[in-house]
Amino acid sequence: MQYGTAHAELYDLIFRSRGKDFEAEAEEVARLVRARLPAARSVLDVACGTGAHLETFARLFEHCQGLELAPAMRRIAERRLPRVAVHQSDMRTFELGRAFDAVTCMGNAVACAAGTAELDQTVERMAAHLVPGGVLVVEPWWFPENFVDGHVGGHLMHDAGRIISRTTHSRRQGDRTRMEVKFVVADSRGITEFTDVLSVGLFTHEEYRAAFERAGCAVEFAAGLRLADGRPNSPGLFVGRKEGP
Ligand SMILES: C[S@@+](CC[C@H](N)C(=O)[O-])C[C@H]1O[C@@H](n2cnc3c(N)ncnc32)[C@H](O)[C@@H]1O
Repeated sequence: MQYGTAHAELYDLIFRSRGKDFEAEAEEVARLVRARLPAARSVLDVACGTGAHLETFARLFEHCQGLELAPAMRRIAERRLPRVAVHQSDMRTFELGRAFDAVTCMGNAVACAAGTAELDQTVERMAAHLVPGGVLVVEPWWFPENFVDGHVGGHLMHDAGRIISRTTHSRRQGDRTRMEVKFVVADSRGITEFTDVLSVGLFTHEEYRAAFERAGCAVEFAAGLRLADGRPNSPGLFVGRKEGP
């Protein structure tokens, strides 16, 4: 299972320590939404993971909900936000029976879709949950032309008597990235390790744009979010606006 309990429990800690500022990212997304729909009051965060962005959305918008497939990630989001509904649902097929002023999908989660048909289906589901004129913000994974085949990443952090490392190796497999993520945790009891293997689609810019357009959204491409040291988190953000009635 991807994003199982051990990975979910270290997720926020390791990303924050790498310089990911979930609050600033969510504030930037809220700015993008309000620049297009100043009266936006409701947000759905799709594939919300541990709810780290949702926490800021809940401060900035009157009504927020989240949706997440991995039970361990969803449990953390629910624990963090007891008053926010976090649905155990699949982004490719969900139907919540209501519409939102904004729908977001952060952290490259959209690229977990298994191919362009699933990408289209996922974007269609998100757009179907927008009011007319509503705003859809999606953070993509790397495009084929800027993905570095064989990329290795590493990070080591100290936390309350523990040393935690996260190393990654990413390889191109056809039109997908196979990313091996290895965690090693050392504490007073000893050293444990586990590996998660993630599969993320290398969709093209045009495939993302086409998915938005097929779902009835005019789409722009905005500057991407960055880590504290200025490194980009992703190539940019797709910002869609659902056409009127
Ligand atoms: C890289 S994490 C991003 C989490 C969060 N959005 C963030 O930015 O921190 C990808 C998330 O997508 C979720 N996910 C993957 N496939 C999904 C699907 N089909 N439906 C809902 N969530 C999914 C994973 O469980 C994981 O929590």
